[in-house]
Amino acid sequence: MTQPNHTQQSGTIGWQSPSNIAIVKYWGKKDIQIPLNPSVSMTLSESCSKTVVDYRPRQSGENQFTFYFNHLPNPSFEPKLNTFFQYVTQQYPYLSDYHFTISSSNTFPHSTGIASSASSMSALALCITQIHHIISQHNTNFTPTDAGSLARLGSGSACRSIFGGWSLWGKYEPITESSDYQATSINDSTHPIFHHFCDSILVIDDKKKSVSSTAGHHLMNQHPFAQGRLNQAFANTKRLLSSLQNGDIEQFISVCEEEALSLHALMMSSNPGFILLKPNTLVAIEKIRHFRSEQHIPICFTLDAGPNLHLLYPAEYQTIIKNWIDSELKPFCSNQLVIHDKSGNGPQPL
Ligand code: PMV
Repeated sequence: MTQPNHTQQSGTIGWQSPSNIAIVKYWGKKDIQIPLNPSVSMTLSESCSKTVVDYRPRQSGENQFTFYFNHLPNPSFEPKLNTFFQYVTQQYPYLSDYHFTISSSNTFPHSTGIASSASSMSALALCITQIHHIISQHNTNFTPTDAGSLARLGSGSACRSIFGGWSLWGKYEPITESSDYQATSINDSTHPIFHHFCDSILVIDDKKKSVSSTAGHHLMNQHPFAQGRLNQAFANTKRLLSSLQNGDIEQFISVCEEEALSLHALMMSSNPGFILLKPNTLVAIEKIRHFRSEQHIPICFTLDAGPNLHLLYPAEYQTIIKNWIDSELKPFCSNQLVIHDKSGNGPQPL
C-alpha cells in the first residue's frame, strides 16, 4: 500500500469488544490464519475486553509496544503481541515509527470458557486500525468492519466479534459476501427468536487448559479425519444457517451439540490425542439432555476448547432455566461459578 505522508502524531484510542461463542467451530487453519472451514458464532454482551492504546512517535531502540493487563505489566501476553505487531507492520509499515502503550482488562475472569483472545484481539485490532485511520487521514469514517482482517490476524475467532449478533467467518459459496479474511454479519437474516438468546456458562474447571487452541489447530493438518471434518463443517454451516433463518430451534440444537462433541472428538483423535473435558462436563451434559427431554424446553450446550459448558436458550426461558441451573448444575461447577451472558450488539468505542 502507499505510505501515508504522516506527520508524527500522538493520541489515545479505546474500544470495548465482546467475546463470542461459535456454534459451527473453527478448528484447523492454513497460511496466515485462513480457516479450513466456515464458522458461525453469536457475539456476547457482558463478557468484554476493554483496551486503551496511547500512541506516540517511537524513540530509537525502543520496543514497539508496552503492555499492561489490569494495570500491571504482563509478559505472558508478549509472544502473541509480538506476532500481532509483525502483522501490523506488514499491513501498515509506517506504524513501526510509533510506540503503543496498551492497557487492557476483561470484564470476566480468566480460564472460565469465555474466549478472551476473541475479545482482546478484536479490541486491540479496533484501536490500531482506528489509529491508522487517524494518522493517515483517511477520508472515510472509521467503522468496526475496517478492523476485521487485522482482528483475524490477532486471533481467528476475534474477527467474528467485530459484529453484534450472528457472524459468519470463512468462505461459504452460497453467501456471496463471506470471506476467509474477515467475518460477515448474518444478523439481519436471522429469525427474531435468535436475537434474544442467552448463554449461561458453567465453569466446570477454572484452571488454565493443558493444550492451547493454537496447538490444537495445528494437529488438524495431519488429522486422519480431516476431510470428514471439512465435509461435516460445511454441511453443518448449511444446516445452521437455515435454522437461524427459519427459527428452527430443533435443528439449531442438533447442529450445536454435534459441533461441540465433534470438536472434542477431533482433539481426542489427534496425534497426540488430548482430552480437555472433565468428568463433571459429562455429568452436566447428561443433566442438560435429560432436562430438555423432560421439560420440552429448547436448551442446548456447546463447548469451546476447554471443559466449560455454554448453555444456549431463548431469553423467554431465563427464569426457569436459571432456577434449574442454581439447584441442579451449580454443584458441578468450580466454586459454584456460573456466568450469565446473552447475545450483544458488538464493539463500542470507549
Ligand atoms: O481463535 P482461536 O485461534 O483461539 O481458535 C478458536 C477455536 C474455538 O474456540 C475452539 C472454536 C471457535 O470457532 O471459536
